[in-house]
Amino acid sequence: MDRAEMEAFWMPYTGNREFKKKPRLITGAKGAYYFSEDGRKIFDGMSGLWTTGAGHNRIEIADAVSEQLRRLDYSPAFQYGHPLAFELAERIVSLTPESLDHVFYTNSGSECTDTSTKIARAYWRQIGQPAKTKIIGRTRGYHGASWGAISFGGIPANKKLWGQAVDSDHLKHTLLPGNEFSRGLPQSGQDLADELEDIITLHDASNVAAVIVEPISGSAGVIVPPVGYLQRLSDICRKHEVLLIFDEVITAFGRIGDWFAASAFEVTPDIINVAKQITNGAIPLGAVIVKGEIYQAFMESDSPEYVAELPHGYTYSSHPVACAAAMASLDILEREGLIERVRQLAPIFESKVHQLRDSPNVLDIRNYGFAAGMTLKPYPGDPTRRPWEVAMKCWENGFYVRSGGDTIQLGLPFITTESEMDSVVNAIGDALS
Ligand SMILES: Cc1ncc(COP(=O)(O)O)c(C=O)c1O
Repeated sequence: MDRAEMEAFWMPYTGNREFKKKPRLITGAKGAYYFSEDGRKIFDGMSGLWTTGAGHNRIEIADAVSEQLRRLDYSPAFQYGHPLAFELAERIVSLTPESLDHVFYTNSGSECTDTSTKIARAYWRQIGQPAKTKIIGRTRGYHGASWGAISFGGIPANKKLWGQAVDSDHLKHTLLPGNEFSRGLPQSGQDLADELEDIITLHDASNVAAVIVEPISGSAGVIVPPVGYLQRLSDICRKHEVLLIFDEVITAFGRIGDWFAASAFEVTPDIINVAKQITNGAIPLGAVIVKGEIYQAFMESDSPEYVAELPHGYTYSSHPVACAAAMASLDILEREGLIERVRQLAPIFESKVHQLRDSPNVLDIRNYGFAAGMTLKPYPGDPTRRPWEVAMKCWENGFYVRSGGDTIQLGLPFITTESEMDSVVNAIGDALS
C-alpha cells in the first residue's frame, strides 16, 4: 500500500504521520504469531491488545461465528431477546464470585465503564440517595476513551485535551518507591488504600457513588496492587456505603491465571466489568456483572412492568454473533485448561522477565500471571520515546510488544511456550542494549 491509499483511515491512538510513512501492516495470524505484509512471522507478545490469549484464528470460534451468522445474524436488543444471550449470561455468572449474578452486555471496555458507573449512580437514586453521584478513580487508571472513562481514568494526556466531563476524584496509583522489581504483589503499600478514607470524607459519603479501579492496571504498565490493598479498598467502600467496581477488562478470563482478579485476590466487588478476552478478541463484546441486590433494586421499581427499569443499552448489546464467539472462547479456555496453564507457568515467566533487570535503562519490572510491565528511564523531557524505540526495534526483529507511556508491556498468549518466553525476553534485552 502506498501512502495515498492510507490517508483516509484516521488511526486510533496512533502517530498517523509516522505510521503512514513506515507502515506496520498485519495481514494474517495463527496461534501466537502474526504475519506481516512484508512476509515476516512476528511473535504476538501482547495477545493482540490483551484480547487473544487462546491464540489467533481459532477454528472453533470461526465455526461458531459462521454458524450463528447463518442462523440468526442480528436480533433487536431492546424488548426482544435471543436464547444464546441468556445462556451466556448464566455461564458468566457461574464463573464469577457467587453474589455477582446479573449481566448487562456492552460492546467494549469503554462502554462497560460508562454502563457500570451509570448503574451505580442510578442504583443510589433508586434506593433514595440521589446525591450519591461522584465516582472515584485512580491516577494512571485506564478505563477507555468515553467521556466517563477519561474522567475517572487518570491518564494525563486525556485530561490535557478533554479535562473532566463527569464528576470524579482520584486516588493515587500504587507505584511506590522501594517496591521496584517486586515479583508478583508488592509486600508493602497496603496503606495507600487509606487515602480513600480521606477522599470520601472530603466529599462526604452521601455524595459518592462508586470507586472504580483495575485490580491490576494494564495500560499504565502492569501496576500490581500491594498485598492487602484491594481488600482495604473494599473494607472502606463497605464502611461508607460506596460501591466498588473492578474493571477487569484485562484481568478477567485467564490473564492472571484465574477467571477473575476478584477470585484470585479473594476480594468481591459490587460490579465487575469484562471485555477483550471474553471472545478471544474475535468479535467485540463487553459485560457488566452486578450483584443481585443492585439488580433487585431496579426490579422493585414502582413503574409499570413494561417500562424499562434501566433506560440504557446499545444496539449491539448481546449481539448474537458476539455471544456465539464468547461461548466458543469459554469452551476453549475450559477444554484446554489455559487458565490453569497460565497459573502454572507464571513463575517461570516471572523469573525470565526479571532477567531484564540489569539491561540498560530499566528502572522497574512488574509482573503477574502472563502480564508484565517495565518502566524505562526517560530521555530528558521525553518519557515515551525510549519505550517506543524499543517496541519498534522488537517489531523489526520479529516481536510485537507494546509501548505505553514510559513502559514496555507484555501480555503473552496463554499458549506461549517456555522457549518463546525466552525469545521475547531476549528480543527486549537486545533492543534495550
Ligand atoms: C482496564 C481497561 N478498561 C477499559 C478499557 C477500554 O476498552 P475498549 O478499548 O474496548 O473501550 C481498556 C482498554 O485497554 C482497559 O485496559
